[in-house]
Amino acid sequence: MTRVFSGVKPTGHLTLGNYLGAMRQWAAVDQHRADSLFCIVDLHALTVDHDPARVRRLSRQAATLLLASGLDPELCTVFLQSHVDEHTRLSYLLECVATDGEMRRMIQYKEKSAQERERGGSVRLSLLTYPVLMAADILAYGADEVPVGDDQTQHVELTRDLAVRFNQRYGHTFVVPKATPPKVAARVMNLQDPTSKMGKSDDSGPGIVYLLDEPDVVRKKVMRAVTDSGRVVEYDREARPGVANLLEILAACTGGNPESLAAVYDSYGALKKDTAEAVVEVLRPVQARHRELCADPAYVEGVLRDGAEKARAMARPIVDTAYRAIGLLPPVSEPSLSAAR
Ligand code: TYM
Repeated sequence: MTRVFSGVKPTGHLTLGNYLGAMRQWAAVDQHRADSLFCIVDLHALTVDHDPARVRRLSRQAATLLLASGLDPELCTVFLQSHVDEHTRLSYLLECVATDGEMRRMIQYKEKSAQERERGGSVRLSLLTYPVLMAADILAYGADEVPVGDDQTQHVELTRDLAVRFNQRYGHTFVVPKATPPKVAARVMNLQDPTSKMGKSDDSGPGIVYLLDEPDVVRKKVMRAVTDSGRVVEYDREARPGVANLLEILAACTGGNPESLAAVYDSYGALKKDTAEAVVEVLRPVQARHRELCADPAYVEGVLRDGAEKARAMARPIVDTAYRAIGLLPPVSEPSLSAAR
């Protein structure tokens, strides 16, 4: 059976971008057709300046929202990264396979380290090595597919490179995974700046729709979206990024496609209105379920506890195999010690 792994980082409140670019596909498709693991990758939230209490809060909230979005613990495994040591165990081995140059070429590293320096802050070493930990997240489970938005495809490419390199040097150990972005809305853009991604770690602002925004707030944000100076509704990401973004959001929410939807509208106002309502409707059941789950934190904790246990059992043998393959002796209590070369 195909194995799927994906994750979300608790560095901010989850956004419509996270939902349309990743989470929705996990709940609607992946968990039903594959052996799937979905992880709140809390260790990744420590790569930038962070407040411990906020990370704890956001981790709980992300777990609750993943379940509210429809992930069913009977069908898939939902857990926190820091509850399964195999991720960091494997990350170190992969650091011994990755190169410094490779890490410095990562677009997200370049962008985030530049932002950090602009703010006068220092860049954590873990920001540079982040993609290796992400590769470990995926490879520890032998995942075949990684459903992510466009912004993560470079990291999945790196994961593939590291898996192939490790296998070539030390013998076949890892499955080589591939990214599976959604057909529409793989990169939802900021409504106020449609040339940059709608990102949860950015400063909160009118251009970002959060999954827990009240319907009226959603309407306001979408109605105020920056469009273009023209008046024609056409799907052209280069020439009309604002309108193209709205068309993609509408298409993703209604199951249509952006090109044919463009033909339906003759004004930006009508497009915005329908997009706003479509987003409100998509978020409504998620928000309702989120409210219910917030009233039952013990259930969410139970899901995470069971999820971590299942995840550990899956990752342990793969990571142990990698330890042996790269040349590390097993602990003396293991009977197979003398056989290991
Ligand atoms: P993160 O937390 O930034 O985002 C979680 C998922 O949401 C997608 N996404 C978007 N998709 C479309 N439009 C947007 N504006 C948008 N913003 C976010 C992301 O592509 C992602 O799929 N490094 C990862 C987390 C991670 C991970 C992993 C993912 C760590 N280890 C292993 C997959 C497998 C990240 O920061 O995602």
